Amino acid sequence: MQQPEPQSFDRVLSSMCTEPHPAAREAAERFLATNPGDPATYEAVASLEERAIELLATLADHPSPTDAAGYVTSGGTEANVQAVRSARNRHDANDVNVVVPESGHFSFHKAAEMLGVELRTVPVDDDHRTRADAVAAAVDTSTALVVGVAGSTEYGRVDPIPALAEIAHDAGALMHVDAAWGGFVLPFTDGEWSFGDAAVDTLTIDPHKFGQAPVPAGGLLARDAAALDALAVDTPYLETRSQATLTGTRSGAGVAGAVAAMEVLWPDGYRDAVERAGDNAEWLAAALADRGYDVVEPSLPLVAARLPESEFDALREAGWKVSRTANGELRVVCMPHVTRSSLQAFVADLDRIRD
Ligand SMILES: Cc1ncc(COP(=O)(O)O)c(C=O)c1O
Repeated sequence: MQQPEPQSFDRVLSSMCTEPHPAAREAAERFLATNPGDPATYEAVASLEERAIELLATLADHPSPTDAAGYVTSGGTEANVQAVRSARNRHDANDVNVVVPESGHFSFHKAAEMLGVELRTVPVDDDHRTRADAVAAAVDTSTALVVGVAGSTEYGRVDPIPALAEIAHDAGALMHVDAAWGGFVLPFTDGEWSFGDAAVDTLTIDPHKFGQAPVPAGGLLARDAAALDALAVDTPYLETRSQATLTGTRSGAGVAGAVAAMEVLWPDGYRDAVERAGDNAEWLAAALADRGYDVVEPSLPLVAARLPESEFDALREAGWKVSRTANGELRVVCMPHVTRSSLQAFVADLDRIRD
């Protein structure tokens, strides 16, 4: 029988996942049957996970990466849910709220529903960045967490993280940065987003996005252990006494793949990928603008542009995996697998469709 094959990445322009680095793929396969959720049994993968956190904390400019707390999650959703849960557990009030920009990922809606916290959504400015004044107006003494996005899902925008962190702490709340996608791009920009740039308490950063690690490998980081302590439950049948993760059994393949990718690519390989992706985004934005489309100027390697519905549909029919923002714009994520020649083929198809 013929083995089923996954789709090729040739025409995938909508995804924040990408082809894993070959070293990461190999490492993941070696660790397929390991469970970092039981570190007293699976010691090798448990120590790899410590290395993963140290490497992620280095990317996120933690002042002392070996002291950072965190774990490899199933993805950005779990990391965001756990950040909300930790902040809720650490806050004194019974009915807490979380302030999230409207550009925040929908995982915060899941978190709010599951955890019984109020979600206060605040507007963004004309450039799709969270308005600090709106956050200041939304926080109160029941605010457990303020969320800022560093590399937004739809437009790749970075919120004013230092200002948001100040507002959060003045209100007695914690500060969480969602850099699920942006975390492997922003170290090579002058964006302010990291533990080194601002008083950030927790941060989401996913190796299985721009980090070129196999799925599933997300990351939750915390400045110090208190954030994870607030998540710990007793684990009577395991040799370790408590567990702070959301899921029990977890993917050792994800942990090993993430470490292998970061060991090989940090920093030069990631820098090259970010530069290539940035050039590609600029090229595509210019090509679309030349054809008269309204383009949202890319800041990180993500391009949004307004296309007629019929052209969008025709591109999908031609096999291009493209998606739309909530405002209806075409959205192209220039991931490492997206080459200049695939973008040239995409624009050539668009020209054919327009004729
Ligand atoms: C900014 C941001 N946060 C969180 C997520 C959720 O990540 P995951 O799909 O790995 O759960 C995404 C997904 O694209 C994202 O862009």
